[in-house]
Amino acid sequence: MDPTLNAVLAVSIRWIHIASVVTLIGGFIYARFVLAPALATLAAPERQALAKRTAENFRPILYTVLVAILGSGLYNYLSKASYPPHYHMWMGIKFLFVLHIFAVSILYTLPSADEAKRNRWLTGMIVSGLVIFAIAGYLRWMSLS
Ligand code: HEM
Repeated sequence: MDPTLNAVLAVSIRWIHIASVVTLIGGFIYARFVLAPALATLAAPERQALAKRTAENFRPILYTVLVAILGSGLYNYLSKASYPPHYHMWMGIKFLFVLHIFAVSILYTLPSADEAKRNRWLTGMIVSGLVIFAIAGYLRWMSLS
């Protein structure tokens, strides 16, 4: 492939990956630590209606970033020039945490999910997201060193 086109693609797809994961994990942190305490001050019927509405509003953003993360992540993974030792193993570990976030985030936006579960799920996804950031940093470091 033409080296300029290759560079433009690599940077653009990296941008898509980072912008999407920031939107996803940032959204969870906002929902858990800003929105949930604010909702808790409302009376039950009003709170439940608003919680359901916010989850519904989040759904199109969620599906867009899930597709973007998976597509850009696969591109990043398959387009690497070489793989250092243990790279695939750490990528596999990262993928298990990714699967947790993908599955639970879809459950989170289903209308049937109850409020207490939604808050627990958010905490779990934030923890998985922070672990993934650490693994991604390590993958980057092992690729450069
Ligand atoms: C919630 C899901 C995910 C999060 C939070 C996440 C987070 C990150 C972050 C922060 C980076 C560092 C960006 C960089 O150095 O350019 C990264 C890089 C990367 N991600 Fe993801 N990612 C996720 C899902 C995926 C998936 C599903 C795949 C593959 C199918 C993937 C494959 C990669 C690869 C190959 C890199 C480059 C690592 C390297 O520098 O060698 N990611 N990811």
